Amino acid sequence: MASVDEIAEDIFRINLAPPGRPVTFSLFAIQADEPALVETSFGRSFDEVREAVARVLDPRTIRHILVPHFEADECGAMNHFLELAPNAVVLGSPRGASSSLADFALRPPRAVQDGELLDLGGKRLRVLLTPYVHQWDALLAYEETTGTLFSSDLFMQPGQGPASTEADLTETMVAYYRQSGIWPSMPHLHAALDQIEPLPVQCIACHHGSTIAGPVVRRYFQAIREHDVTAFAQR
Ligand SMILES: [Fe+2]
Ligand SMILES: [Fe+2]
Repeated sequence: MASVDEIAEDIFRINLAPPGRPVTFSLFAIQADEPALVETSFGRSFDEVREAVARVLDPRTIRHILVPHFEADECGAMNHFLELAPNAVVLGSPRGASSSLADFALRPPRAVQDGELLDLGGKRLRVLLTPYVHQWDALLAYEETTGTLFSSDLFMQPGQGPASTEADLTETMVAYYRQSGIWPSMPHLHAALDQIEPLPVQCIACHHGSTIAGPVVRRYFQAIREHDVTAFAQR
């Protein structure tokens, strides 16, 4: 059964830990005047995820489904949620919304722009376009009232950790990235960090692994700055 934990005020981490997978999978439900999901997880996990979302908000009231990039673990269940929530709109980067999302989503997605503020009413999501981190259509988001960075596949930690951690797991993270080879190039990652580092991030809501909280968040930024985490580092 999915676990549900409040990781910042009115922001809930829903985590799935499928047996035999090296990572766990999270999505995030945001309580606001206009409720939102960041990620949906897999289509095949929809029943479990819907039940978990319903513990914190009525899924039929969802207005925004933010898709960090087009991939099964990020948006596989989006059409199930679109069917359930009549006023929900899928939000993706201009590349995502004009390509794969436009074809796969049941209703037309909306393209969000770099720096755009999504005012949810009580919560404010700022969009950061981060192309090729790790897909060409990638975006991240920062919730301004709580200082929560929705980092998608950035800062992931393998294994099954607690909902939230203040531990420095950056060595494990770097080693995992090098063997998994998901990052295309360091310049793309540095361009993303250029956008992230000036923000007063209080916690990192990771799609894979624990939410990272407290001063240690800066260590994670530093670890990506200082280590080649691409697969080329292994060659
Ligand atoms: Fe991904
Ligand atoms: Fe992922």
